[in-house]
Amino acid sequence: MAPSPLLLVMAMAMAMAVAVAHPQCDTASDASSTLRVFHAYGPCSPLRQQPFDPSTTSFEDFLLDLADADRSRLLYLSSLATARRSFVPLASGSKLLGTPTYLVRAGVGTPRQPMLLALDTSSDAAWIPASGCAGCPTSASAYAPQRSTTYRPVPCGSAQCRQVPNPSCPAGSPSCSFNFTYGSSTVRAALAQDSLSLASDVVAGYTFGSLVQATGGSVPPQGLLGLGRGPLSFLSQSRSLYASTFSYCLPGFRSLNFSGTLRLGPWGQPIRIKTTPLLANPHRPSLYYVALRRIRVGRRYASIPPGALAFDPQTGAGTIFDSGTMFTRLVAPAYEAVRDEFRRRVRRPVTSLGGFDTCYEGPIAAPAIAFEFDGMNVTLPAENALIRSSSGALTCLAMAAAPDNVNSVLNVIASMQQQNHRVLFDVPNARLGVAREPCTAA
Ligand SMILES: *[C@@H]1O[C@H](CO)[C@@H](O)[C@H](O)[C@H]1NC(C)=O
Ligand SMILES: *[C@@H]1O[C@H](CO)[C@@H](O)[C@H](O)[C@H]1NC(C)=O
Ligand SMILES: *[C@@H]1O[C@H](CO)[C@@H](O)[C@H](O)[C@H]1NC(C)=O
Repeated sequence: MAPSPLLLVMAMAMAMAVAVAHPQCDTASDASSTLRVFHAYGPCSPLRQQPFDPSTTSFEDFLLDLADADRSRLLYLSSLATARRSFVPLASGSKLLGTPTYLVRAGVGTPRQPMLLALDTSSDAAWIPASGCAGCPTSASAYAPQRSTTYRPVPCGSAQCRQVPNPSCPAGSPSCSFNFTYGSSTVRAALAQDSLSLASDVVAGYTFGSLVQATGGSVPPQGLLGLGRGPLSFLSQSRSLYASTFSYCLPGFRSLNFSGTLRLGPWGQPIRIKTTPLLANPHRPSLYYVALRRIRVGRRYASIPPGALAFDPQTGAGTIFDSGTMFTRLVAPAYEAVRDEFRRRVRRPVTSLGGFDTCYEGPIAAPAIAFEFDGMNVTLPAENALIRSSSGALTCLAMAAAPDNVNSVLNVIASMQQQNHRVLFDVPNARLGVAREPCTAA
C-alpha cells in the first residue's frame, strides 16, 4: 500500500480542558484570522496542572521534564522521517508525541463547541475526543456530534476512509471507523466531518478523527491541530480560505500573558522578512524541511561535517522547523561541533543539567549563535539560546544532541529557538521566513 499522508501523521489529539487559570490571563476572543497562542505549561493554560506546574516545580525540574518529553518527540519525528511504512506504530512510553507546547482556541460544530487544540507543524491530522469516549482523559471537553447540525459521518468506502489505518465498517455504523496505537494506548476513532471555527473563520466540512475509545495511559490531554503541509492536511482542506499560508509568534514559556499569535492566510503577513526555500521530501510531505548550511558561534563556524546537515529524502536526513519540540536537537556530530566551539568561547568550568551538557554556574558572556540557511541568516538572541534558572544560579546552552539510539538523521529547530520571532510558512511560494518580533497581543 502506498504511504498515505493522512496515516503518516495520525499523530494525535485529544481533549481539551476548558478552564481558565490566572486572573491576568488574557481572555479576549480571537479576531479575524488571527488566533492567540498559549503555552501549554504556562499560567494561562488549562493544562497547567498536568504535567508541570512551574509554581510548585523548580524551573530546573520543569526543564528536565520538558527535555525528557522532547526525547520522545524526537523519536517520533525520526520515525516519521525515516520509516517506510505508511503508519508508524509507536513504541510504548507515556510521553510519545506528548509534548504539544502551544495551544489555540478553536470551535467544532454548529453551534460552535469550544476546544483547545495543540499546534503541531509536523502533523497533518486533527484529532478531537468525542463525548462518551471511553478511556479519554476526563479533563477533556469533548465533541458531541449529535449536538451539531453540521456534523456528517464519513462513510465506509469513501476515499478518505482508505487513508486511515485499520479501517473497519461495523454493521449498522454510518461512519468509517479505524484504530491505531499511540504510545502504550490503543485508540479507536470515527472519521467525521464538521465545521472547524478558528477566530472568526469557519472551515466547513473539515475531516478529522473523532476519538471514541482509548485504552492505556498514553492519551494526551488535548486536541491537535496539525499544520503540516501534506495533501490531506488542514492546510489542504482550508486552501480556499488560507492559501496554505500561516505564521506564528510563539511566546516565551515564562511570559504571563501568553500573547502569541497564529495568523492564518496570506493577509497581514510580514512583507519584508528573510526567507529560505522549503525543501520537499516526497516520502514525508508534512515536514517543513529547510537547508541549514552552517552554524556560527561567535565569529567562527562550528566545524560540522557536511553530511550532518545534508538533506536526503531517502533517509529523511536534514533540518526541519517544528513547533512541538521544545529544545533544538542536532545530530551528534553537528551538536558536538557547536557545543565545543561554544565552550571554547566561554572558557569556564562546565557542568550539566540532565540532558543539557553545557551549563555554567552563574551568568556567562555567551557568544552569539547564528544559523545560516540558504538565503537567510538567523542570529539567536541570548533568550533563545540560553536557559537561565530562576535563581540565576545556572546558565545552560539550550540545545542538545538528537537521541542516539534511533536513526538520528534529523536536525530539529525547536520552539525555544523560535520564541519571540514571527515564523512564516508560505507553502505556495515554498519558503519559510523568520523575523524578530516580541509576541504581544494582536
Ligand atoms: C483494529 O482494527 C482492526 C481492523 O478492523 C481489527 O482487526 C483490530 O482488532 C482492531 N484492534 C483493536 C485493538 O481494536
Ligand atoms: C500583559 O499585558 C498587559 C496589557 O497588554 C501589560 O500591561 C502587561 O505589562 C503584560 N504583562 C506581562 C507580564 O507581560
Ligand atoms: C550570512 O552571513 C554570512 C557571514 O556573515 C554572509 O557571508 C552571508 O552573505 C549571509 N547570508 C545572507 C543571506 O545574509
